[in-house]
Amino acid sequence: MNVREKRFLKALAGEVTDRPPFWFMRQAGRYLPEYRKLRRRKPNFLDFCYSPRLAAEATVQPIRRFHPDAAILFSDILVIPDALGQPVRFVEKKGPLLEPLADGKAVSKLSLMGITARLAPVYEAAERARGVLPPDVPLIGFAGAPWTLAVYMAEGRGGGECARIKDWAARDAKSFAALINVLSEAVVQHLSAQIKSGAEAVQIFDSWAGLLDGDDEGFDAWCVQPVQRIVENLKARHPDTPVISFPRGAGDKTAHYAEKTGVAGISLGAEIALESIRDELAGKAVIQGNLDNKLLLRGGPEMDAETRRILEVMRGRPFIFNLGHGVLPKTPIEHVARVCELVRVSGGGAGEVGAA
Ligand code: CP3
Repeated sequence: MNVREKRFLKALAGEVTDRPPFWFMRQAGRYLPEYRKLRRRKPNFLDFCYSPRLAAEATVQPIRRFHPDAAILFSDILVIPDALGQPVRFVEKKGPLLEPLADGKAVSKLSLMGITARLAPVYEAAERARGVLPPDVPLIGFAGAPWTLAVYMAEGRGGGECARIKDWAARDAKSFAALINVLSEAVVQHLSAQIKSGAEAVQIFDSWAGLLDGDDEGFDAWCVQPVQRIVENLKARHPDTPVISFPRGAGDKTAHYAEKTGVAGISLGAEIALESIRDELAGKAVIQGNLDNKLLLRGGPEMDAETRRILEVMRGRPFIFNLGHGVLPKTPIEHVARVCELVRVSGGGAGEVGAA
């Protein structure tokens, strides 16, 4: 099967396809009953991620149900800190918890050496998933961006005010840069290993890029430049594998980010108006996005209208339909199925569905 037959890779290469390819961030996960059942086999979430058979099965579950145009490997961005020697725990209803890293001394203890050996179960999961996926469904590998990983590592958790990391980066930029460098190297190795194990595209999640809103220098130093170097390195090793990045909350710096990093695709959050950015990005990076995950949760005419509007705004351009952020755990499956249907018929082939 060559690239021409794979809608997702075709669009990512800048071609206008018969209809936009689609997949959903967090398409595997708790909103699926079959995932909740499988998940019971390993109470500890990282144990689940490190079980190749279970992770491969979780990767394929949404493909069987919705037939999207791509599969994303089931894993987590926090396997990198875990493999570097900063253990990660997942606490129900609280999310991930880490013992916060504080300074250069702690950074020097992180062990990059042997990281891909420690993450071998992730690559085995990728191989197994590739083995059972339909040949025309590409597998997407992924990693967290250095900045977002650093947020979890310095704060011990996601979100919040992030006073620690901001203070560290401002007070001791040298040791903070050392952390970002270790993470950048880890991300290159981790993505490269996923590509060797069957991933045909990779996505970098910079979920906390928005924390640097209003700090242009910080945004360039900690979000743009590291990802630019990662993309360069990956291009040298895997020239045919496109990279997508998701700088969540980058706002009006998004086009600058896309251009500087040299990514093939840019995933946009729901707060970005497609009609205001599509011309700026044309010929630079292919847009992926950006249905509001809360609309997907609610469903109904508003969800239908917004889905149709997005498809209309991007008509005639290379485009990958996705959400603005991951599927929320309480999302009804029927809403996801409905959006799939709306995207599928947007090419015109199967006729209009459900129009009142
Ligand atoms: O379907 C997929 O998208 C593939 C798997 C995937 C997971 N996490 C599985 C997961 C992917 C791509 C991620 C990325 C990820 N993980 C990000 C970046 C994207 C984003 O959402 O901004 C981040 C920040 C994380 C860190 C993380 N992992 C958090 C904050 C949490 C807890 C919050 C939550 O949703 O529970 C996780 C746990 C996690 N990762 C779950 C899943 C399915 C839920 C855990 C469970 O099943 O018990």
